[in-house]
Amino acid sequence: MLASRPPMGFNTWNTFGDKIDENLIHEAADAMVRLGLKDAGYEYLVIDDCWSEYERDPVTDRIVPHHVKFPNGMKAVADYVHSKGLKFGMYSCDGVRTCADYPGSYDHEFLDAKTFAEWGVDYLKYDNCYHPGSADEPTLYRRMGMALRASGREILFSACNWGSSNVWDWIRSTGAHMYRSTGDIFDNAESYRNIARSQMDKLHASAPGCFNDMDMLTVGMYGRGLVGSQGCNSADYRSQFALWCMFSCPLMLGCDIRTMNEETLKLVTNPELIRIDQDAEARPPIFLQGKDETDRIYAFKFLEDGAYALGVFNLSEEDREYRVLFNDTGLAASACKAFQFTDVMTGENIGIHREHLKVQVPAHDCRVFRTELVDFR
Ligand code: GLA
Repeated sequence: MLASRPPMGFNTWNTFGDKIDENLIHEAADAMVRLGLKDAGYEYLVIDDCWSEYERDPVTDRIVPHHVKFPNGMKAVADYVHSKGLKFGMYSCDGVRTCADYPGSYDHEFLDAKTFAEWGVDYLKYDNCYHPGSADEPTLYRRMGMALRASGREILFSACNWGSSNVWDWIRSTGAHMYRSTGDIFDNAESYRNIARSQMDKLHASAPGCFNDMDMLTVGMYGRGLVGSQGCNSADYRSQFALWCMFSCPLMLGCDIRTMNEETLKLVTNPELIRIDQDAEARPPIFLQGKDETDRIYAFKFLEDGAYALGVFNLSEEDREYRVLFNDTGLAASACKAFQFTDVMTGENIGIHREHLKVQVPAHDCRVFRTELVDFR
């Protein structure tokens, strides 16, 4: 089954926008292997918008790769990516034009899917700009879902309609393997927090086979690149990455992976965080003590192996001490059980706690724990 776990990879859009070419893709593929990203689970290298000529080929009606950016065509790019043991992703749109005004796949779905399959594409991000008002989104996504299945190649279908038309109600039925459920992310604290908050009551729709996608990560961008407005500090990047993991979202890196700093690399390859994200059951977290608090989130998640994860997120502007109560987790006070906590960022065992956990979290930062029930008398 495709997307039995949240897909992981790298996408060109956040940092590079239309500044993409064959050389960049080669360097990104090399970096994914050299830096250990591939070994950590990042397998899809995805070219976003702006890869084609401005018009289709007048004779064949096919989309044509841009002759300067991709002089050897996309099959050659796919071959290089595959030679590194990675999978190759591309982008199109359900409209007449893509969001950046290149040819879209509207009414060309089956031809384009066949073309992508011939090139060796393994993943298609499918955007939502410039479709006729008369065309409803579920039908357009179904069309591409069917076209991909008819293409003769196994292609992961990454739908991107930004949460419009109540996407949660119908997207699984289109064959999509992941679906963007929010507007575009920008590299600032407000953006990733609003995105995460807006999904807290939507995660029931996300499950193996079709995952809720909160957009490409801005982790490690530090204000550089196309969506690099303001930038975040390292505490924010820890929180963003941990939220995506606690929510079992696809992990698509959007920073310049070739030049990411050590801290970023360590964060995005943290095995315990990735293990939480990739948990086979992908259960939505429970939001302890309510989900309407605006300046903190306590997320508690049941994991496949009987353990649990707890994320404590400080969204305020000051360092805080929190008291997280266990009642909402399901743990009855009379159970003679308690939680043993290990900090997944530091590996530190912070002991056994029966009814609540007192935890210090710096402004904008988070603490994430793996926790197991132990006997307590
Ligand atoms: C939309 C999508 C983005 C990106 C751009 C490309 O805005 O949501 O993720 O693909 O289009 O133009």
